[in-house]
Amino acid sequence: MEKSEAQKRVKKLREEIARLRDLYHVEDKPEVTDAVYDSLNRELRELIKKYPEFDDPNAPENRIGGKPLDKFVKVKHKTRMLSLNDVFSEEELFDWEKRIKKLLSPSPLQGEGQGGEVNYFCEIKFDGLAVSLIYENGKFVRGATRGDGLVGEDITQNLKTIHSIPLSLTRRGVGGEVPEYLEVRGEAVMSKKTLVSLNKQNEKEGKTLFANTRNAAAGSLRQLDPKLAAERKLDFFAYDIAEASPAKNSGAFALGVKGQGTHDALNSLPGLQKHSDKHRFLKNLGFQVDANEAICKNLNEVINFIRKFEKIRPDFPYGTDGVVISVDNLKLQEILGVVGKAPRYMSAFKYPAERATTIVKNVKINVGRTGVLTPLAIFEPTLVAGSRVSKATLHNMDQIERLDLRIGDTVVIEKAGDVIPKVVEVLTRMRTGKEKKFKMPEVCPACGGKIEKKIIGDTESSSSKGPRFSGAPNPGQTISHRTLRVPEKNISVAYYCANKKCPAKNERYLEHFVSVFEIYELGPKILRRFKDEGLITDAADIFTLTKEDIAPLERFGEKSAENIINEIENKKRIPLAKFLWALGILHVGEETARDLANNFGILEKLILSVNQEKKLNFSNSFLEIENIGPAVSKSVYDFFQNKNNLNFIKKLGKNGVIIEKAEKKKTGKFFGLNFVLTGTLSTMSREITKEKILAHGGKVVGSVSKNTSYVVAGVEPGSKLKTAEKLGVKVLNEKEFLNLLEQSGG
Ligand code: IVH
Repeated sequence: MEKSEAQKRVKKLREEIARLRDLYHVEDKPEVTDAVYDSLNRELRELIKKYPEFDDPNAPENRIGGKPLDKFVKVKHKTRMLSLNDVFSEEELFDWEKRIKKLLSPSPLQGEGQGGEVNYFCEIKFDGLAVSLIYENGKFVRGATRGDGLVGEDITQNLKTIHSIPLSLTRRGVGGEVPEYLEVRGEAVMSKKTLVSLNKQNEKEGKTLFANTRNAAAGSLRQLDPKLAAERKLDFFAYDIAEASPAKNSGAFALGVKGQGTHDALNSLPGLQKHSDKHRFLKNLGFQVDANEAICKNLNEVINFIRKFEKIRPDFPYGTDGVVISVDNLKLQEILGVVGKAPRYMSAFKYPAERATTIVKNVKINVGRTGVLTPLAIFEPTLVAGSRVSKATLHNMDQIERLDLRIGDTVVIEKAGDVIPKVVEVLTRMRTGKEKKFKMPEVCPACGGKIEKKIIGDTESSSSKGPRFSGAPNPGQTISHRTLRVPEKNISVAYYCANKKCPAKNERYLEHFVSVFEIYELGPKILRRFKDEGLITDAADIFTLTKEDIAPLERFGEKSAENIINEIENKKRIPLAKFLWALGILHVGEETARDLANNFGILEKLILSVNQEKKLNFSNSFLEIENIGPAVSKSVYDFFQNKNNLNFIKKLGKNGVIIEKAEKKKTGKFFGLNFVLTGTLSTMSREITKEKILAHGGKVVGSVSKNTSYVVAGVEPGSKLKTAEKLGVKVLNEKEFLNLLEQSGG
């Protein structure tokens, strides 16, 4: 074939392949068989081989073009990837609606919100991996995992191997314009059929089997070699647009979505006003959206949708764990906003947990990083909610007693979607008389050390859940009733290994420490080996390891020693929030560590504050910090008073760990301003008004004084207005307040 002819043929082939891809993945109306599609692809590949000048890295035939990577690069999400609040029953769904209707009172929309019905959008909740896809001028440029919602990993190469992810966008039916910048969010999934055949193959090759479609999808996207990821035949369903800016020089389409909760440009771009519009828009751009999704005029229709899908669900080709319900109108979404990590305008309805019965073979003890002993039930393996389950935590002795669980008992285990399985009931009628009661060991099963009993207040509301522990070895800790003030029924007894040097708890702590520092090269086995070899005695020693320490060890060698040392070197800098989390202070998990870091900025200030507190005989000033309760406050004090802990921190510094200071939260247009609200606003409920002020760094206080910055007066204001006038405090009417808010960006 002549070169010019070949060029034309390449173009034609690409166009036809793209059209067929669309029909298959987006329209669900394939026109040709797979063999025909493959044959066209083959011809195209051969032509490109002959005429490499017509190659295009973004062309569909180059989906598996990337080279294996050494590791994934981190990427910061422009807008946070949120999670969803779950509801587990129709009743909880009605409660959710009640709450949102209250917040939407008064409603800015005619007929929707309070008084009128709210329109919802229902879609399937896929059980896969959330990913974000970035398109620039219609070309797929980057894809990332959710990670912790703020920072994910760049998995572009692997995502390119998914045929239902368009590599370049074209807009069909509504003009040719595509957004200049577009961030699509959706779920990468593996079909149930693919999982079955993958597991069959894994079984043959003696590899571990994937428990469910989510693990399989996640495992596939974590392959460093895109060829391996391609073999996994993943799929992608788009569910949201996080950000989009119109095409250059174009007013041709309307889209103004700036992340969840801030739909700023919406008013000026009236074409996209609903969540359902976003889905239609995504479909027009060539993304696959699920065919079952639907607009529901009210909650009863939502319930019908949920009931209908429940029937189809077992035969649905993909793993699902519920239905996502969104308030359809984006304006109402914006008003409802985001609380914590989840939007208030969305809810995930989870189908009832699946249950199965099995026999408890044994109860083992796990020693955690705080030294807490956690009983673990070991079962005859059984299938629940698509996963093989062979163990479940029993949390603590109280839980065992509550259930009256004995070794040999037949038990009911429950598993809901991604939640870990739990024992919910013992079938006592199945007893033969041979069952044995379980007793907590008198010494630590890992080190033979003394066991200490401590009274623990369960800070979480559910009494069946057992306390949550997230602390490092901190032997000085005892829980005082003065600070804990927990209701009687939530108190339980926890058993701890008192041995400071207990190898099991030290190992767990090391594992926690390296995972927070993201030193991925140091897995549990390697850490244990280094300890056994005497290379490290605590986590701080990790930072003084050298290549010469590691290379001579059997099964290591130069290359892997170098990788380990490089990785450690690269991870020496750590933000304060993560550093605090890594310390493993009891009750201080990731979120609490972030709150502390944001409040103090630098570690020295936190320690100073602890020392001052000590002088003041614990006035509990920590309790004034957002989200810090008495249990956290007490354990932070205890931790930073303990000399061993302070020495450990010093050692980390000496060994090269650099703590990056946290930006203090002194931001927002309203920072330093106090507002007092009186009367009713016609466009916003009081709660939402309050939230908006707080979101901009302002404060809302109850009464007017000369220190009040503004009094916002709505209809029928109370005496506060008079006081304001008397004291000469500035009063804003609704319009003025909305203007002020607008100036600060919503
Ligand atoms: S909307 C605000 N829609 O569920 C977060 N999520 O539990 C936006 N998921 O991380 C989520 N199918 O991975 C949405 N149709 C769907 C979904 C879906 C699955 C996942 C997603 C998210 C998780 C939250």
